[in-house]
Order: sequence, then structure tokens, then C-alpha cells
Amino acid sequence: MASILLGVTGGIAAYKACEVLRLFDKAGHRVRVVMTRMATEFVGPLTFETLSKGAVLTDAQPLGENGSILHIDYADQADIFVIAPCTANVIAKLAQGMADDALSTTALAFTGPVLIAPAMNVNMWNSASVRENLDILRTRGVHVVEPSSGDLACGWVGEGRLAEPAEVVSAALKVLDPYKDLARLRVLVSAGPTQEKIDPVRYIANRSSGKMGYALAEAARDRGASVTLVSGPVALSKPDGVSVVNVESATQMKRAMEEALDNADVVIMSAAVADYRVETAAEHKIKKGRETMQISLVRNDDILAALGQSKRADQVLIGFAAETHDVVAYGQDKLKRKKADLFVANDVSRPDIGFSSDENEVHLLFADGRVVKIDKAPKRRIADAILDAAKELHRLNAAAKLSA
Ligand code: PMT
Repeated sequence: MASILLGVTGGIAAYKACEVLRLFDKAGHRVRVVMTRMATEFVGPLTFETLSKGAVLTDAQPLGENGSILHIDYADQADIFVIAPCTANVIAKLAQGMADDALSTTALAFTGPVLIAPAMNVNMWNSASVRENLDILRTRGVHVVEPSSGDLACGWVGEGRLAEPAEVVSAALKVLDPYKDLARLRVLVSAGPTQEKIDPVRYIANRSSGKMGYALAEAARDRGASVTLVSGPVALSKPDGVSVVNVESATQMKRAMEEALDNADVVIMSAAVADYRVETAAEHKIKKGRETMQISLVRNDDILAALGQSKRADQVLIGFAAETHDVVAYGQDKLKRKKADLFVANDVSRPDIGFSSDENEVHLLFADGRVVKIDKAPKRRIADAILDAAKELHRLNAAAKLSA
């Protein structure tokens, strides 16, 4: 049983929130309700109190029994915050972080997944400000159930009608239980650094911790994909339910990736592969003696570029670009050169993201020229955004292959 926090805002579709609540209840979930003042003008809180068998949080009723602060209480206890219907005004408040009533303060205090189902006049829905506010919310990971098209209460015809309650409920349950959405996908991920041997005790490596690649593998596994993780040497535990191939050098990683390629639908190269290896690694430990020494390096094959040459049309190939400046421009150049479907560009000069940190901030660079910024977030959240894009690209590639 999940704990659903249902937000109801002031539009004619507020009455449909009763059906949303009833469907959650029927599916066995506990629902608590928070309403804006305008929503209470359309449907009385008593209706929701009766349906949810609990107190409804409104501006007029901010405190619970024993003086508990309801907006914190409700936010802390919910697994998901579903706002249906969600007006243009509340979309703007959420995008700007305003907290001037019961619903918006609850939203700000809530740290879990948020799903909104907008409902409004068609011209409001199409306005630049609503679009921009929705883009802001989407980049923060807010789920949006798009309104449907038809006769609107205001007399206009077009998009803006609240999605059917059953659609809202099923989208929310999918967010809570996302296991199924990648169930048929086979995902191949590379992670961590490679180590290029100098002698039996020394090697050339880089600062990759493997956190980004492991987050991708774990997120894909949690969403139902079957996952193979080709990992360079890292200090992370082997994720349960993931098939792990441990490698050390770039040469070994290339072999492992090529062997696994045929059985993958999505391939993600998040590993930081050494561009060069030592031409001839010493058989024995190199002794100290000379004041200076030179090591001759030779270029490693580019694994991603090789995969780009041999991949099937329906396979999705995703690369990462680790840059220290002009992140988007350099990333786009790599995207073209390596024939990938998507590049994830990150700024590795920043200490708070990129190498070794728990968070990242990335630009998704699509082959069709789209650039989508994913704001700084835990690597697991970034991984989910990358997988959302991978899922969509796989659908497109598979459809294009069928019609070819
Ligand atoms: O592991 P973390 O500490 O969590 O850090 C994450 C990360 C910073 C390593 C990750 O987010 C990242 O940026 N990975 C790519 C690092 C990299 O090698 O970037 P690049 O711009 O040098 O390479 C471009 C792409 O080509 C990458 O997908 C890389 O895997 C691939 N490549 C590079 C060289 C090579 N010989 N073969 C390759 O396949």
C-alpha cells in the first residue's frame, strides 16, 4: 500500500479529483488530500474528508491534532504527490518555488516524486509561460500527465481537459512502481576507469569512481531491464541482479563490450576509458635509479566509435562527454564523430559533479539537435532521466527499422 498525497487546485475539473481519490482507494492505497482555497470553492473539503476518511489540509486548517504542522506531516508521509487538476497558477508556483498557501508549502516540503495533471483553457495551455514553467518542472523530474483535447468548460474546444482519472491514477502507480517500463529492454553499461599497466605494481588510470555507471545499471535493473555491467576497477559493491563483467584495461573493456553488443538493446558507455596505454608494460617492477624516465604510450581503440560502426539500426548507443569547458559544443562534436544516438555531456572541472561525486548535472545531446539540460541531482536521478531518453530512442529506432 502506498501513501498518496492528492493535491486539488481551483478549476472546474476539481470534481474529477473525487474519482481520482476513489480509484487510488480502490487500488488499496491510502490517500490524504490538500486543497487550495479556490479548489474548496468548487468542491467542499467535506467531500474529500468523507472519501479519504481523514482530515483535508487547507489554508483554513493548517494544524492537525496536537498542534502538528500538517503540511510537513503530509509531505513527510507521502510516497508520491499527485496534483489533479493542476492549474496554470499552481504550475507557475511550483516552477518558481513559491510557498504562499497550504498546497504550495506542502509541495516545497515534499521530496518524493511529483506528478501533475494540468487542466485549463486551451490558450492558457499553449501560452509561452505555461510551456516554460512545464519545461522547468520536467527538467526537475516532475511527471506530467498531458491534458486531453475536446470541449472545454469555458466554451473553447482544444487541449486542456483534465486527463481521465484512470489515466492519472495509472501514471502515478507507474511512477511508484516503475519496474515494468524497461521490462523488455536489455541494457549494457560500462562504468569506472580503465587501468593501463606500467609494470606489475603501477598503472595509469583516472578519477572515475564508477558511481555514474553503477547508478545507470541499478536504475535500469530497478525498472525491469536485464542489465550487463562491464566495470573497470572500482570500490563499489557488485549490484544485485546485474550481470557484472570485471575488466582492467581498455583492451579488455573493448572485448567485453563487443562480446555483449549483440544481446543489447541499449548500450551506454559511461566508463572513463584511457585514450592511451603503455606500449610495452614491464614484466618486473621498474627499479628507481635514473633521474628521469620516459614511457612510450600508444593509442587505445575508441570503443564507442567501434560500437557505433557495428551496431544494428534498432540499437541505441549512448556516450558520455567528459569536458572541462564548452561542454555542449565538444559533446555535440563527439556525438557526430562517434555515430551515437545520444551523448550525455558533463563538466568534469566542477568538484560538486562529474568524477567521484554523488551528484551530476548533464546536458542530453540528441542526434536530431535537441539539447536538454538535466539540473544537478543525485546520479540515480540523472540515470533515470538518461534511461527515459534511451527508452524513447529505442522505440523510435525499432519503429524506423520495421518501416525500412
Ligand atoms: O565514475 P564517476 O566517478 O561517477 O564519474 C562519472 C564520469 C565523469 C566518468 C562520467 O560521467 C563520464 O563523463 N564518462 C565518460 C568519460 C570519458 O571518457 O569521456 P570522453 O569525453 O573522454 O569520451 C567520450 C566517450 O567515448 C565516452 O563515452 C567514453 O566512454 C568513450 N571512449 C573514450 C575513449 C576510448 N578509448 N573509448 C571510448 O569508448
